[in-house]
Amino acid sequence: MNNFDFQNPTKIIFGKGQIENLANEIPEQAKVLLLYGGGSIKKNGIYDQVKTALDKVNVIEFGGIPANPEYDTLMEALKVIKTENITYLLAVGGGSVIDGTKFLSSAALYKGDEPWDILTKNIRTEKGMPFGTVLTLPATGSEMNSGAVITRAETKEKFAMGGPGLFPQFSILDPEVVKSIPQRQLVNGLADAFTHVLEQYMTYPIGALLQDRFAESILQTLVEIAPTMLKDEFDYKAASNFMWSCTMALNGLIQKGVPTDWAVHAMGHELTALFGIDHARTLAIITESHYKYNFEAKKEKLAQYGERIWNITEGSIGDKAYTAIEKTTAFFKSLGIDTKLSDYTNDYEGTAEEIAKRFTDRGWLGLGEHQSLSPEKVEEIVKMAY
Ligand code: NZQ
Ligand code: ZN
Repeated sequence: MNNFDFQNPTKIIFGKGQIENLANEIPEQAKVLLLYGGGSIKKNGIYDQVKTALDKVNVIEFGGIPANPEYDTLMEALKVIKTENITYLLAVGGGSVIDGTKFLSSAALYKGDEPWDILTKNIRTEKGMPFGTVLTLPATGSEMNSGAVITRAETKEKFAMGGPGLFPQFSILDPEVVKSIPQRQLVNGLADAFTHVLEQYMTYPIGALLQDRFAESILQTLVEIAPTMLKDEFDYKAASNFMWSCTMALNGLIQKGVPTDWAVHAMGHELTALFGIDHARTLAIITESHYKYNFEAKKEKLAQYGERIWNITEGSIGDKAYTAIEKTTAFFKSLGIDTKLSDYTNDYEGTAEEIAKRFTDRGWLGLGEHQSLSPEKVEEIVKMAY
């Protein structure tokens, strides 16, 4: 096992009815900016619950943060933060609203001229404006980590940012919010969380037995609840396990002491930036070709995953590893998620070259757990995913 530090300061407030306790978490003198997305919270009652809980708090609102949070919209919110002397941010939404809020937390205290530099120059946020979240969509884990991904439609770019100053102070996780989530977003959440675990697991053995078991337990739980999540009726038991699995998949715990990959996300983000494909679906597009391309380097972990998650008992390590990749694709398909780029666009020619060029221009010359995936290799992987 590798050496590691582990500190996660986010307080989780989990369970039915917990939104009611929101005001207890917000400093008394705070002037709060409540941030939300396209309006789903107004239809499903979450907005009303939040407003009731905040009736004694000084709050103003900023709605309209789109999926794949858009820089230009966030810059409008930044103006509100400055002109209204906001001191505390509250995100009520999914990964997009929470990530947008993290960007604002950073930008509000940023001393440079151009907040876009935080993204393009990899400026780590050591201290941000304090914020909390009410999660409405389990998927990204953003509610308990310090990362964010911001999009700029104008230039078709999507960049990650982060730093120890960007952990939410608290996150309220009420599984009842799952009731109103459309199936498209539910399956996205399952696929995103599943891939988060894979990115931190599907590398090479490092003797981190407990981290492997943590990771496998999250995968097993997601596989177990998926059929119930696909049914129309709401099931609290499945929803609560779904929500906690998504948080645990990307709150830092399972990546401690182990090598991590993240190349599937790096390539996937470009597919969202170029085509607007939902984040989770871009991961489903890349996964199979990434694992097939890097088969030799990953086959031991692939085989272990095949044995422990998919009960593959027959054949050599290579056989098990290969079947495990096929099982993964079948899992995505069982969720109704297509796994080829051509399933989403007819305009895919040239995509691999474009992504490779972007990586070269940014100096991203070696992705993956061995830092060995050059832009040329990325080009081949993306082509395999057409
Ligand atoms: O905008 P509203 O109207 O709220 O509707 C949203 C949105 O249309 C809707 N929704 C959310 N909660 C709902 C609901 N609809 C009904 N009932 C509810 N309770 O769902 C739609 C998608 O929301 P979004 O927040 O975009 O989805 P998700 O949570 O999947 O977030 C995706 C974003 O997170 C980034 C992705 O790149 C993408 O930009 N990621 C962030 C990560 C992180 N910070 O750690 C890691 C991930 O790998 C990912 O990159
Ligand atoms: Zn993801």
